[in-house]
Amino acid sequence: MSRFYYTTPIYYVNDKPHIGHAYTSLATDVLARWKRLEGHEVFFLTGTDEHGQKVEKAAQDAGMDPQSFTDRVSQSFRLLAERMGYSHDDFIRTTEPRHKAACQALWEELVRRDEIYLGHYEGWYAVRDEAFYGPDELVERDGVKYAPSGAPVAWVKEPSYFFRLSKWLPELLRRYELPAGDPDRIDIAPDSRRNEVRGFIEAGLKEFGAGSPKLDLSISRTSFTWGVKVPGDEAHVMYVWLDALTNYITALGYPDTSAERWQFWPADVHFVGKDIVRFHTIYWPAFLLAAGLKPAKRVFAHGWWTIEGQKMSKSLGNAIDPLALVEQYGLDPLRYFLLREVPFGNDGDFSRSALMSRNNGELANTLGNLANRTLSLIQRNCDARLPAPAAVAGADSEFVKGSRHLPETVGTLLDQQKSDGALSVIFASIREANEYITIQQPWALKKTDQERMAAVLRHLHDALRLYATILQPFMPGSMAALLDQLGVPEQARRLEDLSTPLPGGIPLPPPAPLFRKIEDAA
Ligand code: ME8
Ligand code: MG
Repeated sequence: MSRFYYTTPIYYVNDKPHIGHAYTSLATDVLARWKRLEGHEVFFLTGTDEHGQKVEKAAQDAGMDPQSFTDRVSQSFRLLAERMGYSHDDFIRTTEPRHKAACQALWEELVRRDEIYLGHYEGWYAVRDEAFYGPDELVERDGVKYAPSGAPVAWVKEPSYFFRLSKWLPELLRRYELPAGDPDRIDIAPDSRRNEVRGFIEAGLKEFGAGSPKLDLSISRTSFTWGVKVPGDEAHVMYVWLDALTNYITALGYPDTSAERWQFWPADVHFVGKDIVRFHTIYWPAFLLAAGLKPAKRVFAHGWWTIEGQKMSKSLGNAIDPLALVEQYGLDPLRYFLLREVPFGNDGDFSRSALMSRNNGELANTLGNLANRTLSLIQRNCDARLPAPAAVAGADSEFVKGSRHLPETVGTLLDQQKSDGALSVIFASIREANEYITIQQPWALKKTDQERMAAVLRHLHDALRLYATILQPFMPGSMAALLDQLGVPEQARRLEDLSTPLPGGIPLPPPAPLFRKIEDAA
């Protein structure tokens, strides 16, 4: 047994959650559940990012004080996590005392190690991204300057503490390039993201030269107060990204590195969207190295969801509320669709018709029908009792062999965050099982060869048990229902249990449909 630590971004509470937020946490949930299914110990963290100017401004716009505002919006992210069925072990809020203490401890450690100095910041800042930008990165439209993300920027000039980021850049570049398996490697995936980050650092080093203070990072602000106070200089609050990134170690008990939870550090994967790669692969590992801590092993950045071809945005009024989708289509069809539709890492388009066709074609027809046909035949033709384990005959071998390696294949794909690939191989096998039932015609064998009929149904039952077991991380609710219908006891639903066949003769409950077809409801 090993330990694994997976995290989602902590989401800004400037607005209620949409499908993009649900997506990152869902992908994290699947890997966390999979690793538990393999028998490992997992710590899965999610939460909310509640400080900074962006949130302070949202509170002002809502006419509320920031604490009550963040209490309210944070609650809607917590509710989302519940309704989406996430199996997180902790939900962190950056306004909690444990987190402020961790940030201040990290700050003091950086001061002790001479990684922080006081200076003056002058440059461009985008509140929407809570990020600094260089003049070369900006574009100008109608006299207004914008960051590459489209966020407007403003000129900021104020006293500020700086972190000696420049010093760590060559070390970061070295670590990105270490071979897989090297314990010092910082793994950035997909490759396109690693190249992007490397290019960004190299361009900076080329422009200013290694060690230039121009490459250091401003990490405190004096022009507002909604943040964690800088120890010893209360005119400053910490830069919200230093505060936010620290959440990943706060939850493990930092600064108490003898805490039991600390064993989970370093994180195995930080799941993020491509918008926040820089923060997770440059600033965060640099802070950690500078504080004498190990950086996370891997950062995976997925792509962007658009809605029916358009960017999701408040002004377009098209941001999709995941709770409404759960209500309308059911949780598991939504989980399945989000994970299956788009190769993880790529951009994707959310459309209701695509969701409907995945649900109807793959869940209701392919998987639902296989389960229903098999279980109805056992019900009717085998006295509602599970047939005894059966020998593999010539006509069975391809089918049985085909599914045997699935758990291993799926595990390998999920370790690379290829959740769409994992679902695709599972469903390819389910389609083979459907062909097998069509060719073997167990319903016809009832009159000609009852022994063979029982054997065929048993092979199908074994296959369904395998599918239901390995699909649990993706669709926990409906797969629990399927495992109930298959007569698999609750304590026998892990991967290792698959090697112990269920005894013949156990009674099976009458089957019920697992998925309903969605009619056009536009
Ligand atoms: O950046 N498609 O929070 P945030 C896919 N607080 N994913 C999307 C998405 C979309 N259209 N929109 C958002 C922050 N996301 C910081 C993070 S972490 C220490 C601090 C997802 O509320 C995606 O994961 O702006 C993205 O990275 C994240 O939400 C940004 O959430
Ligand atoms: Mg954002």
